[in-house]
Amino acid sequence: MNDSRTIVLTGVSRGLGRAMTEGFIERGRTVAGCCRSASAVKQLRKKFPAPHRFDAVDVADDAQVKAWAAAVLDELGPPDLLINNAAIINANSPLWKVSAGDFSRVVDVNLKGTFHVLRHFVPAMVRRRRGVIVNFSSGWGRSTSPEVATYCATKWAIEGLTRALAEELPQGMAAVPLNPGVINTEMLQSCFGADASAYPSPQEWARRAVPLLLKLRDKDNGRALTVPP
Ligand SMILES: NC(=O)c1ccc[n+]([C@@H]2O[C@H](COP(=O)([O-])OP(=O)(O)OC[C@H]3O[C@@H](n4cnc5c(N)ncnc54)[C@H](OP(=O)(O)O)[C@@H]3O)[C@@H](O)[C@H]2O)c1
Repeated sequence: MNDSRTIVLTGVSRGLGRAMTEGFIERGRTVAGCCRSASAVKQLRKKFPAPHRFDAVDVADDAQVKAWAAAVLDELGPPDLLINNAAIINANSPLWKVSAGDFSRVVDVNLKGTFHVLRHFVPAMVRRRRGVIVNFSSGWGRSTSPEVATYCATKWAIEGLTRALAEELPQGMAAVPLNPGVINTEMLQSCFGADASAYPSPQEWARRAVPLLLKLRDKDNGRALTVPP
């Protein structure tokens, strides 16, 4: 177990982000999380009061992320673990039938949102020359399927962005792309339909993923990782 005390995590309202939030807090870590849903933020604040903090932030909006990062860094200092988990998927469709607006939105959240979070949190981590960055990729960041080309494009981009970032970080830090596996969340239900129920719940997944995340350290820099099934 490493000494990751403070964890910044995006996409905490449901799915994997919510399950990680609970898993980290159960293990004594402090979580600063965000999502867009104001009602989820309200509920999380009630269930997990300070030192944890939860904020309504759209990661696609650089100005919102900037304000959030400033507040979190001021209150909790640089994170030991920064997790870019928030993402969306396009409704199943051949690429040429995806609207320009829908394509842009997936890129804005999955790719630009990750970049916004990195650009506002990583400078403080680099100054301290410590901390691990995990950018959520996907099986579809390393392979492809029909009808999810837009999503695949963003997750392949996350792999490249993260591995290049890993080459830029000072010694003592790490950046890794992580394929979480296949988990029964709203996102999976969107692309798999009823078949999603054959896969593990986010809570079952978190029992494997949270210890793995807490064990990451500088020696893992640049490794493309997968949560084992
Ligand atoms: N489930 C799987 O099988 C699977 C497989 C491979 C990869 N992944 C990856 O794992 C991560 C989590 O996926 P999931 O299955 O847990 O998805 P999910 O159930 O749909 O949850 C997505 C989370 O991201 C948040 N979010 C979406 N857009 C946002 C935005 N613009 N700003 C801030 N937060 C935003 C959502 O909250 P709000 O709607 O409240 O903003 C929600 O908390 C994603 O990166 C996904 O690509 C999942």
